[in-house]
Amino acid sequence: MSEGIDPARYRSVLGHFPTGVVVVTGEGPYGLSCNSFTSVSLAPPLVAFCAAASSTTWPKIRTRGGFAVNFLGRQHAELCRRFSAAGVDRFEGVPWRPGPHSSPLLDHAVAHLECRLVREHPAGDHTIVVGEVLELDATEERAPLVFFRGMYGTFASDVMSP
Ligand SMILES: Cc1cc2nc3c(=O)[nH]c(=O)nc-3n(C[C@H](O)[C@H](O)[C@H](O)COP(=O)(O)O)c2cc1C
Repeated sequence: MSEGIDPARYRSVLGHFPTGVVVVTGEGPYGLSCNSFTSVSLAPPLVAFCAAASSTTWPKIRTRGGFAVNFLGRQHAELCRRFSAAGVDRFEGVPWRPGPHSSPLLDHAVAHLECRLVREHPAGDHTIVVGEVLELDATEERAPLVFFRGMYGTFASDVMSP
């Protein structure tokens, strides 16, 4: 790694930034867990995530020209592990339905988006994938899955209330 940054230390320090977790899905069905998801632009509505250049799943989703983003709930830690595991049928026993634009929408997700693939920007050992949001929905009833220092948890609104 450049400038003497140790990879293990890089991972450890960056792990101190808490994130949500999504499963990016595409027709197949295919899917992979990601915590690099972010919103990018409101007009037009763009989102992004970073796919590892080594990913075997993203190239399969890419060929469809679109993908869904499923926001995981607090009960989904095991599902998150499953969608990052090798050599397993990631969708086995997982209830889902095709969205209006054909990408798989996972049941019981906190929210989901369906996106058109707009562009990819190579960035080191990842590619920044930008999608335009075509369809979206959310529920207020489910708590999110939160990833922090390699651990799974959820959100508590006890720090500062509006
Ligand atoms: C919490 C968590 C977050 C992850 N975030 C990403 C991510 O942002 N980008 C990515 O390419 N892989 C991420 N992964 C790894 C992928 O889910 C998956 O393991 C990887 O793509 C290898 O599988 P594949 O060859 O099927 O793509 C994450 C895994 C976990 C458990």
